[in-house]
Amino acid sequence: MTVPEPYRIKMVEPIVLIPREDRIRVLREANYNLFQVPAGTVYIDLLTDSGTGAMSSDQWAAMMQGDESYAGGKSYYQFRGAVEDLFGFPFVLPTHQGRGAERVLFASEAHRGDIVPSNAHFDTTRANLEWLGAKPIDIPAACANEVLNPCSFKGNLDTKQLEEFLKTYSERVPFVLMTVTNNRAAGQPVSMGNIEKVSQICKNFRKPLLIDACRHAENAFFIKTRDVKYANSSITEITREFFSHADGMFMSAKKDGLCNIGGFLAVRDEGTYARLNEILILMEGFTTYGGLAGRDLGAIAVGLWEAVQEDYLAHRIGQVDFLGQELQKRGIPIYLPIGGHAVYVDATRFVGENTRHLPGQSLAAALYLEGGIRSCDIGSGMFSQKQSEGGLHLELLRLAIPRRTYTETHLRYVAQVFSQLKENNQHIPNLQCVYKPEYLGHFTAKFSPEEKESVGATIGV
Ligand code: F0G
Repeated sequence: MTVPEPYRIKMVEPIVLIPREDRIRVLREANYNLFQVPAGTVYIDLLTDSGTGAMSSDQWAAMMQGDESYAGGKSYYQFRGAVEDLFGFPFVLPTHQGRGAERVLFASEAHRGDIVPSNAHFDTTRANLEWLGAKPIDIPAACANEVLNPCSFKGNLDTKQLEEFLKTYSERVPFVLMTVTNNRAAGQPVSMGNIEKVSQICKNFRKPLLIDACRHAENAFFIKTRDVKYANSSITEITREFFSHADGMFMSAKKDGLCNIGGFLAVRDEGTYARLNEILILMEGFTTYGGLAGRDLGAIAVGLWEAVQEDYLAHRIGQVDFLGQELQKRGIPIYLPIGGHAVYVDATRFVGENTRHLPGQSLAAALYLEGGIRSCDIGSGMFSQKQSEGGLHLELLRLAIPRRTYTETHLRYVAQVFSQLKENNQHIPNLQCVYKPEYLGHFTAKFSPEEKESVGATIGV
């Protein structure tokens, strides 16, 4: 049964498909890096689901009522109340976005030479640790590296390996980190059983367990729909139980906070809170605004609750699933099961022998040329020279779906462009990297079609 949008549209924003010759020029000028492409030249923007969604009328109302006091504004208490109530942590600190929370947390709790195990660190999390001289290591479940394995919780951490790891390196581990859903592993969820087990291991070794909670609501929805034990639980109940296993969390409110900006840190321990608070004031802003306007805090307070509504999540996950199904119908190889916030195309299989160096990046460039669609390489191309790649060896192209933004027709168009590209797969350039920054790869890297390849030939002009 179709799950229609549980909202109607009140405001629209025009989008245009610019001519192919212009797309060729834009891409060349951007050094084949989609992060460097002006948004006005993009038709369907699936670069990220981060901060790109539509806010509700209730969120806009909260923005209008934002209290902009420097200290102790009304919006702060509204925000803090929502975080406490939903996640159960008594100490809450706002930050300007997820990576602001990472910076504050790591500056306080991680040190040079430390090792931080996780199911998988995403790009800024990994780079923020490496920048401090700490070492992030990924211990994903083995099935996460198997593109077609239908296992329900491929976002899990391998608990046997974690235990072995802690037996040897415990002294160098400041905390263990769980990312939900697992963005590097195709938006796959972490099971309740897994977080419980990881938490037990952390307790045995006296290590705090922290959750990178960007997409926690999508994770909770998967627990409800894939674990019979939770079929009759509400998303809020699942969320509270899930976070009861952790000592703290950080979250980018740009994802399941349904906001365009914002983030926060939340912990159980007062001493940790005091340490984080001091650094927060130094790096982000005072305790009660953390680099945000009061109006942003109001919008987050409302967004956190909207994101755990079942009708919203059923539609959200259904929409991502719809795109995945449309692609599969057309024989496009995708990572399975279909993830929470994005469909991840198996770039290696799609580009085949044609594209040897950077399949995800090459496919991203081709998709923009073919249909004005912006996507993101989640593969080796996303990391910098100093940045390690972690334990996942997948070359994927992520089609991230912004929340409450596109319709089924937009997504069907995306699938149709893939069909076209499959027919014309000689249009896929064989990109190689010609410049990589020190700590973060994909945002500012430069690419170029392989030498000897004429740009015109590879892009079909
Ligand atoms: N952790 C995860 C798992 C993320 O996906 C992101 C951001 C962050 C932390 C950092 O949050 O952007 O608010 O600073 N991911 C975005 C993405 C950018 O496209 O997946 P932020």
